[in-house]
Amino acid sequence: MDTPLHEKIALITGAAGAIGMATATVLAERGASIAAMDVKGADFTALRKAIPDTKRLLVLEGDVTDEASYSGCVASTVKTFGKIDIFFNNAGIEGTAAPIPDFPLDVFRKVIEVNVIGVFLGLKLVIPVMVKAGCGSIINSSSVAGLIGSAGMCAYVASKHAVVGLTQTAAVEWGAHGIRVNCINPGPIESRMMASIEKGLGADAAAAVHAGIAAKVPMLRYGTAGEVAGVVAFLASDDSGYVNGAFYTVDGGLTAA
Ligand SMILES: NC(=O)c1ccc[n+]([C@@H]2O[C@H](COP(=O)([O-])OP(=O)(O)OC[C@H]3O[C@@H](n4cnc5c(N)ncnc54)[C@H](O)[C@@H]3O)[C@@H](O)[C@H]2O)c1
Repeated sequence: MDTPLHEKIALITGAAGAIGMATATVLAERGASIAAMDVKGADFTALRKAIPDTKRLLVLEGDVTDEASYSGCVASTVKTFGKIDIFFNNAGIEGTAAPIPDFPLDVFRKVIEVNVIGVFLGLKLVIPVMVKAGCGSIINSSSVAGLIGSAGMCAYVASKHAVVGLTQTAAVEWGAHGIRVNCINPGPIESRMMASIEKGLGADAAAAVHAGIAAKVPMLRYGTAGEVAGVVAFLASDDSGYVNGAFYTVDGGLTAA
């Protein structure tokens, strides 16, 4: 029996990271072939182990902020697999934590470069590929930080709000071409990124910061990368065929409280 993503091709950025890798694994389990892109030198060992069929995994080293590099990765994906049905526009960085007056300008610029320019470039390069096919599903990685403020995280919050705007604009522009564009807004997920944010916010008291954040979540815990991947898989599949321009919180109820 065909699985929901049988013969679909998914390009995933930030694929060596927690959420990218979990999503690559779930999409592959459901039948998709994966083009997995991350920075030069990223560790793809776990991903190769999770998807051992080399015909269904293309590993790509590239930088989402560099148009030539990114364009090469998109071209390699099309050359290898012939198309892109699913695009998980996921690469992102957290930057540092500091109040606005103390926030370093170079870090602010870097966060915008990866989280906003990178997401924009992904849309710019992949939408034309999908237009040719007349269909496609794009899922952008925003965050609860794309919906509400977070003290100390001005660059990240600004960048993730921008991702919501890019999502809605792309959805409005390309819906008539059969391309759906949605975003996910995860809350705190057990991951390297959250550990880094906790350290930034709490210096030596990261464990207390973790407990404090978890206590604010109605479900009283962090989520897992697998729980995010399940929502991405839904948005990638035809089960969400009339979902366009939406944002999906995956936050244990954090932003409903
Ligand atoms: N972890 C969380 O709690 C959480 C919550 C909400 C949203 N998010 C978002 O989900 C996405 C994935 O987060 P994660 O937890 O898996 O983080 P992660 O750090 O584990 O993974 C991010 C990946 O992006 C890659 N990357 C960074 N800059 C890049 C560039 N210029 N070009 C190509 N790849 C690049 C990194 O090398 C890394 O492998 C991010 O956009 C993040 O902001 C994460």
